[in-house]
Amino acid sequence: MSDVILSARDLVKHYPIRSGVVKRTVGQVKAVDGVSFDLYKGETLGIVGESGCGKSTLGRLLVQLERPTSGSLVFDGVDMTQQSGNALRRLRRDIQIVFQDPYTSLNPRKTVGDIVGEPFDIHTDVVPKGGRRRRVQELLDLVGLNPEHVNRYPHQFSGGQRQRIGIARGIALNPKVLVCDEPVSALDVSVQAQVVNLMERLQDELGLSYVFVAHDLSVVRHISDRVAVMYLGRIVEIGDEEQIYERPTHPYTQALLSAVPVPDPTLRGKREQIVLSGDVPSPANPPRACRFHTRCFKAQDVCSIEDPALDPRPDGRGAHPSACHFAEPRTIVETVHLSS
Ligand SMILES: Nc1ncnc2c1ncn2[C@@H]1O[C@H](COP(=O)(O)OP(=O)(O)OP(=O)(O)O)[C@@H](O)[C@H]1O
Ligand code: SF4
Ligand SMILES: [Mg+2]
Repeated sequence: MSDVILSARDLVKHYPIRSGVVKRTVGQVKAVDGVSFDLYKGETLGIVGESGCGKSTLGRLLVQLERPTSGSLVFDGVDMTQQSGNALRRLRRDIQIVFQDPYTSLNPRKTVGDIVGEPFDIHTDVVPKGGRRRRVQELLDLVGLNPEHVNRYPHQFSGGQRQRIGIARGIALNPKVLVCDEPVSALDVSVQAQVVNLMERLQDELGLSYVFVAHDLSVVRHISDRVAVMYLGRIVEIGDEEQIYERPTHPYTQALLSAVPVPDPTLRGKREQIVLSGDVPSPANPPRACRFHTRCFKAQDVCSIEDPALDPRPDGRGAHPSACHFAEPRTIVETVHLSS
């Protein structure tokens, strides 16, 4: 797993805040504010963080549904942010997205066949003329739906089945990368496991790389090879599954882990609870230096003066990137695995 397929460098997305009659720009929402990572062929990178930390914005940047304010995004050796027109369209084919809410992301007036086949309207050369219906039925079969239900409407399916429709649409163009923005967050726990299992099977069969966004740390652990933890538009810690769950060094990761529900009652009470003070600050006005210093239980003077870099820091068994001046490993709890 050494080949990098997608490489983000210093990705920034600021949204202007406008006010008054003439809509003057009075500030910027710093939704994504300097994110860098590599995605390797065939891996799953989980992205975790509280609501509003910029996960969905990052997802939209990765598939170029939105253009970054600055930064680069290199796919297969080409910087997508420098492309436009046909060249960009061709690149976008290889990076697709599946959205969170299967209830609102599917057009209720279109049949499943139309929804899944929609990408073929733009990329007309993907299926041979007259082969569209057959390809759509193949896709439905691939995601575990009855191919004969091609003329049904979204409301005739359950939540889990609707998410399978969204996934079928996501893989219709044979992408190499699939960005999944909370694909199971709106589903019941039992259905979540089925959809996650489907995604793992598709990854093996189709050789996909996933960026998997979620705020549920247990789901991310099950599916991810590596996990990036985001706080206020930035990655604060990134590492493989073991580094993040067994040897987290960033206080924010440790706090998130301490909040993962523990289903086994015998384990409850055995783990440390780290309660964070205050709310997440506004991304329009993030705290200076370490953005976490207003809520961090380890904060010292230097934290509001010097911005800690996302550098490899010792974790007890080696080192992995963590953006904290006082990074040190701390075992929080035997965390939850999603049963499959
Ligand atoms: N189009 C937009 N215009 C202005 N602000 C935006 C826009 N999209 C997102 N934001 C702001 O950017 C910040 C990050 O939003 P984003 O949706 O990326 O977060 P998130 O991590 O996906 O949150 P959630 O877990 O709730 O889905 C938020 O403060 C949000 O209000
Ligand atoms: S740099 Fe300081 S405020 Fe930031 S996470 Fe580390 S200890 Fe906390
Ligand atoms: Mg989101």
